[in-house]
Amino acid sequence: MNGKDIAIETHNLTKIFTRGNGVFEKLRKKEIYKTIAVKNVNLEIKEQELFGLLGPNGAGKTSLIKILSTLLLPDEGSATVNGWDIQKNSFEVRMSIGLTLSSERQLYWKLTSKENLEYFGSLYLLKHSELKERVSDILELMGLSDQKDNLVENFSSGNRQKIALARAMLNDPPILFLDEPTIGLDPSFSQHFRKIIKKKINKKEKKTILLTTHYMEEADQLCDRIAFIDKGEIIALDTPKNLKRSIDEKEIITFVLSSITKTMLSEIGKLEAVSSEKHYEKDGRYILKVYTESAGACMQDIIGIITAARSQVLSFKTSKPTLEDVFIKLTGSGLHE
Ligand SMILES: Nc1ncnc2c1ncn2[C@@H]1O[C@H](COP(=O)(O)OP(=O)(O)OP(=O)(O)O)[C@@H](O)[C@H]1O
Ligand SMILES: [Mg+2]
Repeated sequence: MNGKDIAIETHNLTKIFTRGNGVFEKLRKKEIYKTIAVKNVNLEIKEQELFGLLGPNGAGKTSLIKILSTLLLPDEGSATVNGWDIQKNSFEVRMSIGLTLSSERQLYWKLTSKENLEYFGSLYLLKHSELKERVSDILELMGLSDQKDNLVENFSSGNRQKIALARAMLNDPPILFLDEPTIGLDPSFSQHFRKIIKKKINKKEKKTILLTTHYMEEADQLCDRIAFIDKGEIIALDTPKNLKRSIDEKEIITFVLSSITKTMLSEIGKLEAVSSEKHYEKDGRYILKVYTESAGACMQDIIGIITAARSQVLSFKTSKPTLEDVFIKLTGSGLHE
């Protein structure tokens, strides 16, 4: 680790994808589209930290992970991983990390879990005896020793995800990048898998982990610190507790309405107990979030305003701020819009 306690550091990291730039597209004079996938990202992740990148689809999470794992080149900026420069020392970076990418098939389905791990382990040029021991230890760590001779094609998606994580740990890297580790898993398996990530991989094996997710509960439960990413930019970065504290209001009332009008919003905004509101459309329904010191103090008035605007309250609930509320307050839209 070169004697430092920073595991990952980025300076103004930027990635721009250009479409319509190919020869045929130029001949057809198609427009060139540019997408800024990652924009001026500055991060400092400490050794043994469990750090989360939380953001909606297309926010730039996977692109950032791919840059840090040397699969993509940045257009601007720089980064070090385990003290190594991602562009000048890409080999050392690769030897320092383990990676799981949710979007890609990471295992050979016609091989058993043990054969998969032995094959991928051999790419790290581990000695045969060392490799056998490592594979057996990792299968044990993941609780999969009894399934070592089963074909991966017969595994549940949860257990495949465990083997993919085991694969990322083969060379015992100090840093792990986990891209959407629990996507597609049922809630109870996700919970079990999160425990493995936190207790076994982060705490026991002392790995630094950078994970991406668009599940706010996952980020809240797992991460020491979280960066909110939206349209390629980090828009907030702190511990889950402090992020939630950044919403001063004590309560949030969430209404699902049949319609929203400008007058309605302005009338609600004028109420003394209301500090702010956010609204957006979802599946033909209108979501209105009212941030307030006390739901009891303004509920009757709000319902009166909604009814006067000839809208219907389809449902409502009051809650304490969650990370999603912080995200909505910052961006004006939810993580799953
Ligand atoms: N190879 C590519 N070519 C062109 N555009 C791309 C490419 N890869 C990603 N993008 C664009 O860059 C932006 C960021 O994509 P990225 O996959 O990093 O987001 P993400 O946060 O991982 O999203 P998701 O939650 O859907 O996985 C998106 O607008 C996406 O369409
Ligand atoms: Mg992604």
